[in-house]
Amino acid sequence: MSKLKNKVAVITGGNSGIGFGIAEAFKNAGASGAIVGRNQETLKRAASQLGDGFIAINGDVTNPGDLERMMRNTSEQFGKIDILVANAGAGTTGTVADISESDYDKTMDLNLKSVYFTVQKALPYMADGSSIILIGSNAAHRAYPSFGLYGAAKAAVIFLAKSFSNDLLDRKIRVNVITPGTTDTPAFDKFVPAEQIEALKTHFAGTMPIGRIGQPSDIGKTAVFLASDDSSFLLGAELLVDGGMTYLAK
Ligand SMILES: NC(=O)c1ccc[n+]([C@@H]2O[C@H](COP(=O)([O-])OP(=O)(O)OC[C@H]3O[C@@H](n4cnc5c(N)ncnc54)[C@H](OP(=O)(O)O)[C@@H]3O)[C@@H](O)[C@H]2O)c1
Repeated sequence: MSKLKNKVAVITGGNSGIGFGIAEAFKNAGASGAIVGRNQETLKRAASQLGDGFIAINGDVTNPGDLERMMRNTSEQFGKIDILVANAGAGTTGTVADISESDYDKTMDLNLKSVYFTVQKALPYMADGSSIILIGSNAAHRAYPSFGLYGAAKAAVIFLAKSFSNDLLDRKIRVNVITPGTTDTPAFDKFVPAEQIEALKTHFAGTMPIGRIGQPSDIGKTAVFLASDDSSFLLGAELLVDGGMTYLAK
């Protein structure tokens, strides 16, 4: 219950899916803080579900000016930031034969550049000894059809956990990365029509060695571990939270 007592967290994309699962797990572990997103309606709903101790900040993580404002607002409200989760992101599809330069830039801006500057803009407000958690994807390890560019961005994010940790050694800030496999979130809505979503989830569950797809709470539990002193010897580590789907042949 109190593993994160008195800790202040910022969770980008905390108004939906995995980010909300992380925010809920942090709240249950005693933390307070801010969730960040652009959709005013889901921000409001998520903040009211989290209740006292959490605020919602509207902003675009691809805009460094917004990122600076989010971190400053959180620090003004809570006095510090102890935990940062760079979670906002989205899968995009296309192949090397058809992705346009503008699609390329959008994919990289959201899934890689935003992570870099989320961390950079938070640093002046973060306490020494803080924990930073990045969110990768198993698409960084296996070449799924049409997810190549997204996978490349996430592979770079996984690398950044190591290089950021190295950059921040003198401040004892630990940076680690969680790599989810297929997880039950509203992201499914972006890829198939509403009436096909349940069938797609059932199909994925059948392909998973563990027999089900992940839940945001599975990622939330892992994030509490990485945010707390329980993981004090982990630095630049990747935790694959994927029910075995990446490396176990079924
Ligand atoms: N679900 C999976 O199977 C899966 C697997 C591997 C990795 N992941 C990764 O997990 C992370 C969360 O995904 P999810 O499945 O939870 O998706 P989701 O439910 O669609 O949530 C994505 C979140 O990111 C926020 N976001 C997107 N673009 C943003 C922007 N420009 N500025 C600010 N916030 C932005 C969204 O909020 P707004 O729309 O309000 O901006 C939303 O809160 C992503 O990095 C994704 O790549 C997901």
